[in-house]
Amino acid sequence: MGFRCSLKIKRQEKPGAAPYWQTFSSEAGGEATVAAALREINDRTPLTDLDGGRAMPISWECACLQRKCGACAMRVNGAPRLACSAFLSEFPGGEIVLEPLGKFPVISDLTVDRSVIFERMKQARLWLEEKAYLSGRRHEVSYQSARCLMCGCCLEVCPNFGAAEDFGGALLSVNAYRTLEQSSGGGHKKEMSEAYRKLYFSGCGGSLACHQICPLELPVEELLLRSNAVAVWGR
Ligand code: SF4
Ligand code: SF4
Ligand code: FES
Repeated sequence: MGFRCSLKIKRQEKPGAAPYWQTFSSEAGGEATVAAALREINDRTPLTDLDGGRAMPISWECACLQRKCGACAMRVNGAPRLACSAFLSEFPGGEIVLEPLGKFPVISDLTVDRSVIFERMKQARLWLEEKAYLSGRRHEVSYQSARCLMCGCCLEVCPNFGAAEDFGGALLSVNAYRTLEQSSGGGHKKEMSEAYRKLYFSGCGGSLACHQICPLELPVEELLLRSNAVAVWGR
């Protein structure tokens, strides 16, 4: 008998609406990802849930389907994952529970508003105004920083990150490294360093839950330490 499972999905019609649960069988097979299963379910006409009730298509985001854009981040059986790199065969229990990321406002179903991420980046003034300094000395670390998908998985598990609070979380620190390291100095680098201390360094408790969860396995701990070193200790 082929691989069978069902997807239990937390649904919400629009911002502020009451959430509810709906379960769908998956015909996608064990080699498929959660993303492929969602696409297969949404292709059905008419779409019915496991009890035969009519259902609206499931709202969720994706772009690359190859772990390159970060759009498909959601909670899969309680843990933040990228739907396009979570394989159904990893969850042999029969039922996979999908919920939207919990640290961001829900737009509908599994789609959330992650604009706070970009607001924090703007607050942190992460751009170059002075001559860039490209030494090649720490090229590999800068490269790892640039791989960040801004998916928000590290924010989801961070005990100190809340969308309403003034703390940018590991995502901010990971991305800050490139600009801090490349800035040759001067007034803007000072502003960036001050903003970094306020928006990241003073709020981080050092639990490193962010390091374990990154779906790209970025060296998050090293990037946090290196950003701290540049912005706080000027090294
Ligand atoms: S550091 Fe990893 S978990 Fe955090 S936003 Fe970047 S890719 Fe996602
Ligand atoms: S070390 Fe802990 S508090 Fe700091 S960003 Fe990572 S998860 Fe959040
Ligand atoms: S759709 Fe791009 S990372 Fe999943």
